[in-house]
Amino acid sequence: MRSVWLQVTRRGYATNTANVARKWIYAKTFKGEPNASNFRLETEPLPSTLQEGEFLAEAEYLSVDPYMRPYMLAYPEGSLMIGGQVARVIKSANARFPVGASIFGQFGWRTHTVCDPARLEKDRPYVLPDFGSLPASLGLGVLGMPGNTAYFGLRELCQPKVGETVVVSGAAGAVGSAVGQIAKIHGCRAIGIAGTDAKCDWLQRTLGFDGAINYKRGEVYAELKRLAPKGIDIYFDNVGGPITEAVVKQMNLYGRIAVCGTISNYNSAITKVTDPQRQFVFKQLRMEGFVVWRWNDRWLEGIEANLKWIREGRLAYEETVTKGFERMPDAFIDMLRGGNTGKAVVKV
Ligand SMILES: NC(=O)c1ccc[n+]([C@@H]2O[C@H](COP(=O)([O-])OP(=O)(O)OC[C@H]3O[C@@H](n4cnc5c(N)ncnc54)[C@H](OP(=O)(O)O)[C@@H]3O)[C@@H](O)[C@H]2O)c1
Repeated sequence: MRSVWLQVTRRGYATNTANVARKWIYAKTFKGEPNASNFRLETEPLPSTLQEGEFLAEAEYLSVDPYMRPYMLAYPEGSLMIGGQVARVIKSANARFPVGASIFGQFGWRTHTVCDPARLEKDRPYVLPDFGSLPASLGLGVLGMPGNTAYFGLRELCQPKVGETVVVSGAAGAVGSAVGQIAKIHGCRAIGIAGTDAKCDWLQRTLGFDGAINYKRGEVYAELKRLAPKGIDIYFDNVGGPITEAVVKQMNLYGRIAVCGTISNYNSAITKVTDPQRQFVFKQLRMEGFVVWRWNDRWLEGIEANLKWIREGRLAYEETVTKGFERMPDAFIDMLRGGNTGKAVVKV
């Protein structure tokens, strides 16, 4: 069935004025690793006219992120899968979101969305800053939520100083790859921990990390001692579990730890680690968890700083792009398994 038709607006944008949205439903509660049975593709009719204040957005790129795995546990079966997307406004009755605008919206896994921002209490969509010739998809990665997670989490919680040693886990992913590079920009040594030799090579050769450890080889603590013989000042933790236990053992006096995520236990029971309290007392460590929305009121500051560093050639990015909205679950499952380098996105 053909559900959309093409239209050319006066501004010259070829628009896809849809009458039906496709959307992915959380069909079955996650248990262990997600699989195809957790998701169901549905359609939903769209209204033919917009009310004052509304616009119709068509998704161009959708994000698949680790947080979706734990966060969806709070939703009943039958809910829309949550998530952000970069979309194009294709119809509008809202002057702040004109036809043709490229926007970020927390619209979930759906191709078309009618939105009135004034009716939302949080997660309001925004028009993306001008990225110039850079792809709009970066609004889901280094110039969006993950980039801001790296920017604010590292700078605000860890306060990196010249000459310090920074370790980041999940280093070859969207957040981790930016953390290591921003640490370098602040004059630190950066060591990354990732899941394949190819990712470790990429971190060092392309992104300029000073060292990298493939945690699947099982020698994290020995490798940390070799690569950071004088100890670790800052740890940006994306994974938790035994990797974190090994890093904490090698931390220096007054070390700072930003707890960003615990992906090592998103699909499984929490692994027991040795009680870390003794290290925290004698090394006088500080550990703080955070959620990036804490810096909502400074959102554009992070995007603009990362954009400037990209333009200066100091911050590189990578995207792993899956083509086709129908492959959203595949892209999500693949990302959780480590199939991505840099940001995992889906091109509709
Ligand atoms: N606090 C916040 O506000 C905030 C915001 C964004 C993201 N986060 C968190 O930050 C972390 C990274 O997110 P991201 O978006 O940048 O994802 P990502 O790193 O691009 O993708 C996830 C990566 O996690 C790694 N991984 C999977 N299972 C693992 C395990 N058992 N142990 C160690 N690593 C594992 C895989 O890489 P390998 O090949 O290296 O295993 C995979 O590529 C996640 O924990 C996420 O929840 C937090």
